[in-house]
Amino acid sequence: MEQPAINSPENDFYYPPPDVVSMAHIKEYEALYRRSLEDPQSFWGERAEELEWFQKWDQVLDDSNPPFYKWFPGAKTNIVYNALDRHLKTWRKNKLALIWEGEPGDVRTFSYYSLNREVCKFANVLRSMGVRKGDTVTIYLPRIPEQVIAMLAAAKVGAIHSVVYGGFSVESLAERIQDAQSRILITADGGWLRGKVVGLKDIADEAIARQATIENVIVVKRTGQDIYMEAGRDYWYHDLMSLPISSTSCFTEPMDAEDPLFILYTSGTTGRPKGILHTHGGYMVFTYTTLKYVFDIKDEDRWWCAADPGWITGHSYIVYAPLLNGATSFMYEGAPNHPYPNRWWRMVENYGITILYTAPTAIRGLMRFGDAWAKRHDLSSLRLLGSVGEPINPEAWRWYYSVIGKDNCPIMDTWWQTETGGFMITPLPITPLKPGSATRPFFGIDVDVVNEDGHPVAAGEEGYLVIKKPWPGMLRTLYRDPDRYREQYWGKFGDMYQTGDSARKDQDGYVWVIGRMDDVIKVSGYRLGTAEVESALVSHPAVAEAAAIGLPHEIKGNAIHAFVILRAGREQSDKLAEELRNHVAHEMGPIAKPEDVTFVDSLPKTRSGKIMRRVLKARALGQPVGDISTLEE
Ligand code: PRX
Repeated sequence: MEQPAINSPENDFYYPPPDVVSMAHIKEYEALYRRSLEDPQSFWGERAEELEWFQKWDQVLDDSNPPFYKWFPGAKTNIVYNALDRHLKTWRKNKLALIWEGEPGDVRTFSYYSLNREVCKFANVLRSMGVRKGDTVTIYLPRIPEQVIAMLAAAKVGAIHSVVYGGFSVESLAERIQDAQSRILITADGGWLRGKVVGLKDIADEAIARQATIENVIVVKRTGQDIYMEAGRDYWYHDLMSLPISSTSCFTEPMDAEDPLFILYTSGTTGRPKGILHTHGGYMVFTYTTLKYVFDIKDEDRWWCAADPGWITGHSYIVYAPLLNGATSFMYEGAPNHPYPNRWWRMVENYGITILYTAPTAIRGLMRFGDAWAKRHDLSSLRLLGSVGEPINPEAWRWYYSVIGKDNCPIMDTWWQTETGGFMITPLPITPLKPGSATRPFFGIDVDVVNEDGHPVAAGEEGYLVIKKPWPGMLRTLYRDPDRYREQYWGKFGDMYQTGDSARKDQDGYVWVIGRMDDVIKVSGYRLGTAEVESALVSHPAVAEAAAIGLPHEIKGNAIHAFVILRAGREQSDKLAEELRNHVAHEMGPIAKPEDVTFVDSLPKTRSGKIMRRVLKARALGQPVGDISTLEE
């Protein structure tokens, strides 16, 4: 193995400050990690004991039918019981659960008591609209407290929530509603972004026209412009919440540990987005434990996960894990640089944020404005920082560490996925860090890097990142598609979970995640599939065929570039290229809008007709195209 250069990030250790170590929940990693792998059942069983169950489990893990693992079978609970009801019996009843700031500057706060009150009221509304255990409810909202309330209310009555990110658009929303077969959609008139209204209800109306299951729409009033309300179908949230049916007490449905909690659609290698399914019991234990140990959540903390509840990061670490830990969370509606690039730093100072968890793209985006905006603010409340979503480049890591963390706040670079439910490879506050590495596996997580045949590769070599043992937060299946679940995640290596990422381990056992090996593109940390972008492009009447690839982008990490073959009789023009870019934004959402559209006469394909995106990418980057023996004439 080649030794890394002296000044490479692999030899660049950063050690935690003594006060961070002295207050850490976990003071020693190796022995506990070893124990957690030798006996995961007692490790997870002990963690589960910290939460409340209506009925205890028969066993911690049932692995009799892989890859359909069951955690805590026989147990009864409800994640909302542990996130809310449990705290009302303690002093935390009057503790702040959520502090929220809207982009225009409006502020709302909720204690555990008042959050529970709103959740109970809305759960009663849902019940009165006929929502029952096992039904799916689609939530399409901006980043406002009602998003959290709607998710918790659905889970409380035993329904399965399917949250669609508010930045998605017509077709993305329609296909997610259709796949989940939701009868109820919860949306808003609009949301604020960079001082402008994003008209969610208009998008929702267009999406509803494309699917066949929605019967009722509940609309939160956020931005106040005039919108279309269909009589008998659409209801204002505030009207429903003031009816006598929305009483402030509400029964929390007892659920089997393995009952579904939510579906979250995410992009995969091919075709339609996949409905990742998580359950009440295992997901609860896993998100609770990972947040507690990795970010050392304490009662006096002010935790800010700057993601959107519409993605897994927000599900796990804005909504569920902080509440399970009885923490105080901060949530912000809008853009980080609105109205000025100090918005985030002003809020850190204003609310005394102690832990900030965000994505490399946001860090790079704010870094570009220089140090002065951050230096104007007192950021000394910060104790820990976090990163998620894509590999963080060492330059952004060092800026985050020194300019935001003042060389005093360890950065928890957490590697995980929608499918894993929570942190998988991550430092703890006591871990010596290396900029750009997610460091070591979390307790109970057996990670390896293997070659094509499933054998571990040598230190320093790149290979497939796999997980060798089940864990409580793992997805249970793909909604209504168990075969695809088996094939997609367990098809290649049989008894090892295939992450879809490539990685290497260094001489110290630290994991360096390199990136996706499939047709998933991470744009600003958002997970998009080339197939979805392509299908949006070909839904335009001018387009015969399309290919989308991701190319490196300084701020976004990757950006989408599209190649298009026009239908006969259509002329290429800059105007049409612009129209196609806007068409993708309209169908999927602005995050999927291609950087550029190139018109071509043909696309590189295999003889079986598969587009060779690898060839397009190599060509665009001016790199050798590699093996093209399977290329069609
Ligand atoms: O490629 C990895 C990257 O994000 C993918 C998962 O995306 P998603 O399901 O949207 O979940 C993102 C938030 C958990 C992974 O397959 N990824 C996530 N975190 C990291 C990362 N890559 C490197 N370092 C990370 N910390």
